[in-house]
Amino acid sequence: MPIVVWDLQVRLFHWSLVAFFAAAYLLEGNWRALHTHIGYTVLLLVSFRLVWGALGSPHARFNDFICSPTSSLQHLLALWRGNARRYGGHDPAGAAMIVALLFAITITGLSGMTLYGMEGNGPLAGRFANLPGGLLERIHELAADTTTALVCVHVAGVLFTSYRLRENLIAAMINGRKAKPE
Ligand code: HEM
Repeated sequence: MPIVVWDLQVRLFHWSLVAFFAAAYLLEGNWRALHTHIGYTVLLLVSFRLVWGALGSPHARFNDFICSPTSSLQHLLALWRGNARRYGGHDPAGAAMIVALLFAITITGLSGMTLYGMEGNGPLAGRFANLPGGLLERIHELAADTTTALVCVHVAGVLFTSYRLRENLIAAMINGRKAKPE
């Protein structure tokens, strides 16, 4: 019998993040101001998630799923062998990916915001004028590419876990429900 594991805030956060991240990625070339404002929105979303990780419903909280890298690796191995256990919230491998994604998105957003500020725009206008712009641009690009690569691994991981556990995790992120854990 499925039970509700993801509250509305987590689901809205997730799908808004997907939409805004995709928009920022696609508008990177010619639509600079729009790209930047979407980037600010992504940073706001991540800030909200950090607060919700402390105040949200049980499975939204970071203390429900943050674990050691060893647990994440053990879970990945168990998934590969086909004997992984089910979790109500995020499993240890998903948890490691979520931390990596939130971190990479934050670095991408902050480096972009600083770069925009250096050019005299946005809330950081006029600050960091002495920073090497070329280096900052490279950091922003590298962080964005890293986030994109992590997203690909994340989606592959979701599909593989769904297949292994015979459970549609994408539907769970839409309707909030997952099978009761063992
Ligand atoms: C269409 C592509 C995507 C699909 C199908 C998808 C699917 C999912 C699913 C099923 C989960 C829950 C995993 C679990 O059961 O533990 C999840 C979590 C998460 N995903 Fe995605 N995802 C997608 C794209 C993205 C993108 C583009 C980002 C970031 C830019 C992202 C960031 C996250 C984060 C941060 C979480 C944790 C949610 C939370 O606890 O608040 N996802 N995703």
